[in-house]
Amino acid sequence: MPHNFAIGNQDRHRGIKLSARETDARLGRVIRVLMGYPTVVISGTKLAQEIGVTRSEVWRLVQSLRTLGVKIEGHPSSGYQLTAVPDLLLPEMLEPVLRGTIFGSNIHHYYRAGSTNTIALEDAAGGAPEGSIYLAEQQTSGRGRGSNTWHSAESTGIYCSVVLRPNLPPSDVLVLTLATGLAVQAAIQEIDSRVLADLKWPNDVLISGKKVCGILTEMSSEATRVRHIVVGIGINANHTEFPAELEPIATSLRLTTGTEWSRVELCAALLKSLDREYKKLLTGPESHPDILRRFEQHSSSARGREIFIEENPELRGTTEGLDDRGFLRIRTREGLKPIYSGTVRFK
Ligand code: BTN
Repeated sequence: MPHNFAIGNQDRHRGIKLSARETDARLGRVIRVLMGYPTVVISGTKLAQEIGVTRSEVWRLVQSLRTLGVKIEGHPSSGYQLTAVPDLLLPEMLEPVLRGTIFGSNIHHYYRAGSTNTIALEDAAGGAPEGSIYLAEQQTSGRGRGSNTWHSAESTGIYCSVVLRPNLPPSDVLVLTLATGLAVQAAIQEIDSRVLADLKWPNDVLISGKKVCGILTEMSSEATRVRHIVVGIGINANHTEFPAELEPIATSLRLTTGTEWSRVELCAALLKSLDREYKKLLTGPESHPDILRRFEQHSSSARGREIFIEENPELRGTTEGLDDRGFLRIRTREGLKPIYSGTVRFK
């Protein structure tokens, strides 16, 4: 599918990437109107009235949507009809299902962004409210932990960043990452109960030992207080292939089940699940032991697994669960040690 640079109407992120323009809101409106009349052909005049544009503008918007893979039949003289519900992560698709969560009212969509985390961090620093979410169909500079990149093929995965403003000390932010893993795991299982995803401390979700999701938590804080947090979640949903170097270590939901996943359904389930986990976390430090216990329960490697830390291979031992701050403990020759950072590798 070609990228459509012409469909952005807001140059809000000029400083970052020219292509990181928020999606023209009128595209979502066209889809919303068409979805409101699923079985009828709607005339160009009516569509134009409902959206508040001219008929020729409607035609241009319809053409833009078609290049993005949205199946719309018809033309200006006959009228238009949606032939399939589009699987685009547009605000119009998500808003109705996210009502009642903190994620329902500030949804930003990009056809092409550098990194949704970078955009979310910039907006958060500029005052974006808690619960703002940033979704991209494609990322050109998707970021992972450390200096890793995140493979972000177009309209196959979920590339989502959320802004949170919890009243937490920075030391509790690890628990939020762990809770996000639980939210991802639950969302996947809610959609297909056969898929048992495995959590790998601190930020990976695996299926059959391969990575299906990564979480990147970034924050701005003072010594004792978080200003804002951005949690970025990348899920390999409908990838059918990966670049050669990722092939041995990455998988997708589609490769796992052999079926296409609705990204809209998965994204909605994820954000609803994250909303529940986040609200639990905010009830106070009493909620932490429960999150840590559930993380251990859903992680086959949190206990009794021989591991080493990639960045510091001398640091090796057998996992013995999480400590009360959420750090992974390993039994080494010198005794029990917490792992504060680094990539866990299995021996
Ligand atoms: C990792 O496994 O190292 C974390 C990967 C996080 C990827 C997501 S995709 C959405 C958000 N935007 C980014 O640039 N990264 C995160």
